[in-house]
Amino acid sequence: MTRVLILGAAGSLARVVTRYLLAHTDTHLTLYLRNAERLSFPDMSRVTIVEGDVMDSHRLEAAMEGQDVVCASLSGNIASQAENIIRAMKARHLNRLIFISSMGIYDEVPGENYGNELATYREAATVVEASGLEYTLLRPGWFTNGDEVNYTLTHKCEPFLGQSVSRLSIADLITRLVTTPELYVRESLGIARV
Ligand SMILES: NC(=O)c1ccc[n+]([C@@H]2O[C@H](COP(=O)([O-])OP(=O)(O)OC[C@H]3O[C@@H](n4cnc5c(N)ncnc54)[C@H](OP(=O)(O)O)[C@@H]3O)[C@@H](O)[C@H]2O)c1
Repeated sequence: MTRVLILGAAGSLARVVTRYLLAHTDTHLTLYLRNAERLSFPDMSRVTIVEGDVMDSHRLEAAMEGQDVVCASLSGNIASQAENIIRAMKARHLNRLIFISSMGIYDEVPGENYGNELATYREAATVVEASGLEYTLLRPGWFTNGDEVNYTLTHKCEPFLGQSVSRLSIADLITRLVTTPELYVRESLGIARV
């Protein structure tokens, strides 16, 4: 059984990813978040909840024990968070990282210039891409709550297609990444509905 560590598990995207992974796979999920009271599940058989900050290296490394995939869906200073996550993964000999970023970090969205707004996302992407880990960076468009799974992927150096994407679509892609280990390794993917 694949074990997935979800960082930032109380976030709006992570909650949908959690639900989707539980429904569509037999993975075991470790949900890492700053305030554990924010999550509860009627059936805890496939879920472990760990309270912690990703900047707390000691807790983060402990949560990484025995995991196969790390999925980071965070906010704030994500460049520093990326550095800490990568350090912890290397310390625990983990390799597979799925990292949620944003559209616009390479100025790849036609007609848009996000400037300094995305500075920490750019820096985080540079850190992840230089990590030597088996990463997949996801650059979603604006999130929607739509119940459709409908997305088009764009690769690094390609113009971004679309503007928005349902959280469910991102969850579907993450599920494919988790269940197909070689899929889109060392890639940075734009994801939106066209
Ligand atoms: N919304 C959009 O349309 C959109 C589009 C493209 C990209 N994105 C990006 O996608 C990412 C996920 O989005 P989202 O809507 O799920 O964001 P969110 O709801 O703000 O979730 C992010 C989570 O990260 C957690 N977090 C932040 N710093 C942490 C730390 N040091 N340790 C542990 N947890 C920490 C937060 O925890 P707390 O709950 O404790 O604060 C929060 O639950 C974000 O980076 C966002 O900017 C969003």
